[in-house]
Amino acid sequence: MFTSTHPHILTWVVALILFVVALALFKNGMAKQMKIVHMTLRLFYILIIITGGILFFHFAGNDHMMYGIKFVSGIAVIGFAEMVLVKLKKGKPAKGMAIGLVISLLVTLYLGFSMPVGFDFLG
Ligand code: HEM
Repeated sequence: MFTSTHPHILTWVVALILFVVALALFKNGMAKQMKIVHMTLRLFYILIIITGGILFFHFAGNDHMMYGIKFVSGIAVIGFAEMVLVKLKKGKPAKGMAIGLVISLLVTLYLGFSMPVGFDFLG
């Protein structure tokens, strides 16, 4: 079941939604609520890494290059998302991290969808 990409996609889609909700709460000055959403988001970082890691060890085979890059870009998305929220909380400029997040997310989505295990794979 976890060798399908569905759990992996579910975890990063939920994380993306939680990230947007955390941003919205921050913009509305709801610090306490944001903290709860941020903690939940951190749990989903771990779930993304676990589900991605399972796919990695199951499918990487000899294609270490693409799978290695996907691994690093996926981790970069998580790193940038976390840095954006932490910078905002500290009142520091988060623009650089936000740009990093958009770029790493686009790269990761492109890599993920262009790699061999497709959405319809049932394993
Ligand atoms: C927020 C971060 C991430 C996003 C947005 C993301 C996105 C994606 C997408 C779109 C796919 C393709 C799904 C499909 O075609 O059905 C995918 C597959 C995959 N992801 Fe991620 N991912 C993320 C993080 C990670 C991490 C941290 C790892 C490694 C630990 C990872 C490892 C993989 C692997 C191995 C695959 C299967 C590639 C294949 O052979 O097709 N991902 N991911």
